[in-house]
Amino acid sequence: MSDTGTTASFERDIRPLFRDTDRERMVWVFDLWRYEDVRDNAQGILERLEAGDMPCDESWPPERVATFRAWMEGGAPP
Ligand code: HEM
Repeated sequence: MSDTGTTASFERDIRPLFRDTDRERMVWVFDLWRYEDVRDNAQGILERLEAGDMPCDESWPPERVATFRAWMEGGAPP
């Protein structure tokens, strides 16, 4: 993969999008800093991000949601 590669990876592109707070508030359902948890719950997470009701304090800008969606569509690689 090149530096400007278009394939998003969890460790590099997705995990840093989740704040400490997000992780702490959601750990009763899944760990947002854990690859397997986010991969396995990706559809539900995307729905909340698109609906704009998660995170509960502010919604993500559209381009950030698009990054998450693109990661999923790329096969949700680690
Ligand atoms: C990007 C960050 C976050 C994501 C992706 C996220 C995602 C989700 C998802 C998918 C659910 C449904 C869980 C289920 O029942 O299966 C949920 C529920 C919930 N989340 Fe988050 N969350 C995030 C941040 C937060 C934050 C910052 C809070 C702070 C209060 C929060 C509070 C809650 C609560 C109270 C529920 C249960 C009530 C409900 O379903 O609305 N979440 N979240």
